[in-house]
Amino acid sequence: MSRCLKDVPGSTGWGARLSLYRRRFQFGEVLRELSQQHGDLVRIPVPGPPKVLLTHPDDIQEVLATRAQHYQLFAQDLIRQMLPWGVIAMEGQIHDENRSPMLLSMRKILSRRIPDLSQQKCQEAVSTWRDGEVIDLYRVAREVTLSISASLLIPRPAQDLLASRIDHDGLLKLTEMSNAYLLSLPPSLRRLLLLPHIPHLFDLLRTSRHLRAQVRGVIAEIRSREWPPPAEDALSLLTEGTEVGGRLPEEYLLDNLLTLLVAGFETSANVLSWAMWEAAGRAEVQEHIAAEAAHLSDVSTENTEWVNQAPWTDAVVREALRLYPSVWFLARQSIFECRLHDHFFDKGTVFYVSPWVTHRDSRWFPEPDRFLPERWMQARPSPGTPAGTNSPGADDGPAHRPPFAYFPFGGGKRFCLGKAIFDYEASLLLGTVFRDWRLERVEECQPRPKFLVTMRPDRPVLVRLRRR
Ligand code: HEM
Repeated sequence: MSRCLKDVPGSTGWGARLSLYRRRFQFGEVLRELSQQHGDLVRIPVPGPPKVLLTHPDDIQEVLATRAQHYQLFAQDLIRQMLPWGVIAMEGQIHDENRSPMLLSMRKILSRRIPDLSQQKCQEAVSTWRDGEVIDLYRVAREVTLSISASLLIPRPAQDLLASRIDHDGLLKLTEMSNAYLLSLPPSLRRLLLLPHIPHLFDLLRTSRHLRAQVRGVIAEIRSREWPPPAEDALSLLTEGTEVGGRLPEEYLLDNLLTLLVAGFETSANVLSWAMWEAAGRAEVQEHIAAEAAHLSDVSTENTEWVNQAPWTDAVVREALRLYPSVWFLARQSIFECRLHDHFFDKGTVFYVSPWVTHRDSRWFPEPDRFLPERWMQARPSPGTPAGTNSPGADDGPAHRPPFAYFPFGGGKRFCLGKAIFDYEASLLLGTVFRDWRLERVEECQPRPKFLVTMRPDRPVLVRLRRR
């Protein structure tokens, strides 16, 4: 017998809705509880088009990758208002066409620029540290990832111009904009519920205008000068790309530079601060990373072998991405009738998928809430696989684990454009830190995830430094 939406378990009604709204900053926890209670398909009590949480990897693969063309982004209107020409908010053919030059430029940046630059920025970050000092790992990670991201976007001689001109708090604000629950409401209700947030929203739109003006100013300044070749930054590469592929509006460059900045810096900083915090809780893990990092000074554009030969460092990063996936929640709306798990769904049904929920499912990851980088040591990619070449959405885990049991970078045609860049930043930052320092947790500091558009620590992540 065919089953449909009404057969999907889950709580509905106003009581459930109100309770969800009250717990909107723990939205991830709520979704996890619902999936533990009801199983792989759960109706989520949010008004508007029907919402279903999918937690089985096979269903997630279907929506994000296998039949991605049958689904569209959902509730991206705020992002569209802020970055109308950004690839992150585009759909269909326009998305595919605009993604290609971005992908190409990311690949070139990776091979020409990222190893040297990451190492330089990581070393600068630790150069001022003093023995016994207490530092906030979230702040450190943010400064490193912002300076790397901003430097990758513009020509080498001007590399610090953007980071020094851009409003750092404004960038953070863009990812703070609202929580997933509000974004999931239908526009009419959203407007109503957003009334108390209106000053905040105005502030947000003002901030995005201000940031665009700042980036526009930097682009104009850079273009007013001649830069020696080679072109190895996103601005030059995207300009070349757009000229080959026909003139695209200048706004496209602007919004995509800002997209790379916003999509890249805070997502990476969140995961890195969790990775260092978790390693700080396990002395032997720090020793493994330190041993692997002993040869770190050899890393350069010509010699990137170290990053590929650091299994513990890699395992710590994977495990941090499993427990704390920055992009913890994605929403897709079906544009056709569809069938999932023997259920038929109408066109317009919204599917939530959450790396946070699926990554903490004990069917795929025993002892799911424990930080166990060891679990990745039995599942190494074959030797010689360069960092960042995993196929979209693929998990190198044991055979019993389906590919989309682990998908911190999404999957399919919207797979993260910056994964390989993040992999480098992560290995180099962890290596640079633990090679010369031991970190001790400040025990009274117990950071918890805060579920905004991204998932970040809810307070400063404090550790005490001990020089080796
Ligand atoms: C830990 C770090 C990161 C995580 C967890 C992450 C995660 C993700 C995820 C899950 C998506 C897919 C979104 C969707 O399907 O709707 C995505 C897309 C994207 N990411 Fe990342 N990301 C990270 C770092 C970066 C970096 C460093 C950059 C750039 C330098 C970047 C640029 C992008 C862009 C441009 C997209 C949009 C791709 C498209 O729509 O075609 N990300 N990211």
